[in-house]
Order: sequence, then C-alpha cells, then structure tokens
Amino acid sequence: MNQTNAHIAADNDEYWAYISAHFPTPTSFTNLENAYCGMLSQSVMAALQRYQTEINVETSYFLRTRLHDRLDEVNNKLAEFCGIAVDELLITRNLTEALHILLRAYPFNEGDEILYANADYDSVQQLVEDIASRKQLSTRIISITSPLLSDEDIVKAYENAITENTRVIMLTHLLHRNGQIMPVAKIAKMAKRYKVDVIVDAAHSFAQLNFQLPDLESDFIGVNLHKWLGAPLGTGLLYVRRQRIAELTGSSKARLRSLIPTGTFSPAPVMAIVDAIRFHQSIGTRNIEERLRHLSQYWLQQVCHMAAIKHHTPVDPKRHCAIIAISISGIPAQEVVDYLMQEHQIFTVTRTIEDQEVVRITPHIFTSKSDLDRLVEGLRQLIEEKQSFSSQLHEHEHDQKETNDTYPRTVSL
Ligand SMILES: Cc1ncc(COP(=O)(O)O)c(C=O)c1O
Repeated sequence: MNQTNAHIAADNDEYWAYISAHFPTPTSFTNLENAYCGMLSQSVMAALQRYQTEINVETSYFLRTRLHDRLDEVNNKLAEFCGIAVDELLITRNLTEALHILLRAYPFNEGDEILYANADYDSVQQLVEDIASRKQLSTRIISITSPLLSDEDIVKAYENAITENTRVIMLTHLLHRNGQIMPVAKIAKMAKRYKVDVIVDAAHSFAQLNFQLPDLESDFIGVNLHKWLGAPLGTGLLYVRRQRIAELTGSSKARLRSLIPTGTFSPAPVMAIVDAIRFHQSIGTRNIEERLRHLSQYWLQQVCHMAAIKHHTPVDPKRHCAIIAISISGIPAQEVVDYLMQEHQIFTVTRTIEDQEVVRITPHIFTSKSDLDRLVEGLRQLIEEKQSFSSQLHEHEHDQKETNDTYPRTVSL
C-alpha cells in the first residue's frame, strides 16, 4: 500500500475532478455516507461485469481450468499491496468473517480474557462476546471515545485494563463512530510486553490510510476490501503473521485455507480485487489519504466556529481522515440527517458514541468542494431556522408571561 507514485497536492481540485470522472455520479442525491461501502470506479465495475460474463459463458470449464491461476494472481497482487507474504493471507467475504475464522481457531484456554472497547464495531463486539461464551472466556470493556484523550492516554487506558488473564486485545484502527485513528502500533508494542496478542479491525484504515499491514505490529488483522479499496461488495481478508499460522491450523504444514470450508463461491468479485488495486495504485494511497483529510478539514473548518456545533472527532488532522462526527446542540442527530436529505438532498447517517447520537459525515475522493459547501450551507440554515424558531418561541413565552402577570388567571377571593 505504501505509495511510490508521484505526489499530488490534496488541494489540486482540477486533478481530483479528473479522478471523480472515473466514478458514476449518483443522480438524485449527494452521498456523504461513504463509510459503509465504497463506490466501484468505472474500470472496476466493467471488469466485474466482464468476469461475470466470462464465468457464465465458460461455466465449469472456467472453474476447472482457469480459476486456480486467476486466484493465484489475485492473492499475489493483494499480498504485495498489503506488504505481506502470500501464505499469510486468506481472502474472505468480509471483515466479520475474517475475525470469526480467526477467533474460532485461536488457541484460547478456558478463563482467558479478551479486552475491547465500547467504541469498537457492534458486530465485532457481538462476535467477541459470542466466542467468549462458547469458549468460557471472560471479556473486559473499556471506554476510549473522548476526542480529548491523547494517544498516550489511550495506550495507558489499554495498559491499565490488562490483567493477568488478558490474552487478546481486539482493537479498531480507525473508529467507525467518529473517524478517530487509534495508535494501534503503540498499543501492540505495549501489549507485547505483557505477552498479549492484538487483533486489529482495519475496516476503515485499510486503503484510506497509507500504511502496510506489518506497520501495525500485530500478528492478526481483519480487513474488508469493499470500503476504501473500492473492490466489489463481499471481499475481505485475514492476515496472520507466518510464525502464528500453525497455532491456528494445528499443523506447521497446513495453510490458512484449511480454516475455511471448501465449496463453490462467486469468483467474479474476488477477481476484480486486482482491478481495484490497479485503480487505487494509479492514484496512490498517500495521495488518497491526504485528499480525504483535506476534504474533511475543508468543511469542518467552516463549521467548527459555530457555537451550536460540537465535533466528536479529534481536531488534530493527524488523528482523523475522511470520517468526522458532529452534533448540533438542541437538535437530535436523526433530525439533522433527515433535514439534510429532505431539504438539501445530502445523504448522511447517525451513529452512537457512548449514549449520544451523532451525525457521521464521510466524503470520498469523488466528492467535490461544492458538495461540501452545500453541506455547510445546509447545516448553517438548519441552525438559523432552529435559532429563529426558538427566539420566536422565547418572545412568545415572554409576551405570554407579561400577559399572565398583568391579568392573573386565577383570582384569589
Ligand atoms: C470498524 C468496522 N469494523 C467492522 C465492520 C464490519 O465489516 P464487514 O461488513 O466487512 O464485516 C465495519 C463495517 O462498517 C466497521 O466499520
């Protein structure tokens, strides 16, 4: 993933307009909820359709004679992109499946403890609890979502939570709730001192941030490829450092593949991973990361001085990238999301941080600054409308009070 191609300025809007022309444009709304899944570039979409046709025309001939080599090509290209060896990689349907395969095979002992945070992805938390109850493990949950916590505070919070039973820390690299980037490598290095393994959920960091998997200093990583890499839906991967594979498979000869059942699957989305990597590399991950951060800073800087707006993401640009979460005082997050869609045709989503609902806003590399200007204008209008409504209400209440004071309704006799 580490970029080797030319540096492109994050504010070179002409270049990024040229890139956005490689994507289909949604017709009826502006999508600022690009965190769930990415959009396939036109080249990846065309490749996916071509592969599907090829498979449909050749059917079992394709599966019997061509598929093996094509999958080798995908695995090699993906391993190279991740900076790992091909035998350390297992392609899965998504990240949850990758972690499921890993946690089922991980050699836990009864009584071991898994440590995770309440900011981790809900279905990952659910998966951990599930495995814990099946394997008679315990879990410990910490809270790390305050944007005021420094990286050092966060490492300390994990360190303080480690007990003599802690065997594994489940750790999210880039939080889906507020876009906060976690100091994964620092936590993993600290955990090694206690002989605790770190399993990383890299759903949002992979291909959004410029790093390679070994940089995370963790032996186990789950990834999905349908978010920031822009591969088709239904693609993910599990990374296991070579020295740890035998602990999962039970044999030094067995490959990661032995952890999953054989059976027929749909190869076209997997084959198109190669095309997604090619498109991504034609731009460069570092350029993508810098542009995404530039876009989120572009709109955030315009709204953060508004007294009603609270941001739930650390302001330091090094600690976030595309995803930002905000709330508006006095207006429920769902109302903000509905208003933006109904009045400005801008699609966003709510998420929960601790007990608070927030609005999550996520541009993509095809997002233009004029899209973000419309977002800023929408937020400004909503706040003004609410403020003028509440000052009218206030005036009305004031008039009512004066009337009541002058003409008391209840008269004491
Ligand atoms: C942080 C995080 N982890 C895990 C997942 C689940 O990924 P998948 O749907 O590929 O299993 C998501 C999906 O949005 C996520 O945001």
